[in-house]
Amino acid sequence: MRRFRLGKSCIRLRKGYRPRFRFTDGERIAALSAFLKLKVDHKTVLCRDTNTYRALRDFLLNSGYSPVYETERVGEEKTAMATFACLNPLTGERLAVVLGMSAPNEVSHAQAPFAYGFAGKPQKDAQTYMQHLALRTTDIEKLKSYLESKGAEFLTPIYKDKDSFGPLLQSFTRELFDDEWFFIEFVQRDYDADTLGVGGTQFVQNTVKSLYVSKQEEFREWEKTGKKRKFLDGVPAKERDQLLRDILAHTEPKGYVQTVAPISRHVKLN
Ligand SMILES: [Fe+2]
Repeated sequence: MRRFRLGKSCIRLRKGYRPRFRFTDGERIAALSAFLKLKVDHKTVLCRDTNTYRALRDFLLNSGYSPVYETERVGEEKTAMATFACLNPLTGERLAVVLGMSAPNEVSHAQAPFAYGFAGKPQKDAQTYMQHLALRTTDIEKLKSYLESKGAEFLTPIYKDKDSFGPLLQSFTRELFDDEWFFIEFVQRDYDADTLGVGGTQFVQNTVKSLYVSKQEEFREWEKTGKKRKFLDGVPAKERDQLLRDILAHTEPKGYVQTVAPISRHVKLN
């Protein structure tokens, strides 16, 4: 006997029997448009303070990661962030480490998880928070239009920029969950991003600054009203799970997104 998960219920089926009324995983992937076959591009972790930021940076450099981007301060007049990004040349994993810098009378949005907590409670022991996951698509315009046609909302337009690997297009979603600060970045790189070596450190400020300003505006609004407009608020409730599953469940490497803490706390992918 094999067990198939079907929505919330579980049914027992004879071995070898395939239900006709539902895609199998393989068929569903084949049915998904090419722009929905996503790959993990990088993830970005926020740090509580300078010690954590330095320790993470030090640990990553000592673990064989090569620096690909670094900036000491980018943001607005009052608040800003420092960013360090690196690449593991063996595994291809890219990580960005961010330190939000608040002012005496304004919290930086990159300090939000530490100033306001997450997962519904203050988190005084948390030193890090997974802020966003970047997923690579083959066609960001089509992907964005498709998701918007379903009711999904993005925080930013599609930015055109360049990083140390080459030209890239990026767009950032609104946050996914209440009591969290997590969002998704979609990127398109028109070259084989998996086979590239380390490109050397570069300083690309435009998109980073635009994103900082948009996030800080969104955050100020939340501080004022206590409300936020989420990524899937405009999608009919019964379609939200499937849409999120179409985005996340088939992302390669398989199983990676389940390791990202805000997702694992809030989404059941299988
Ligand atoms: Fe990013």
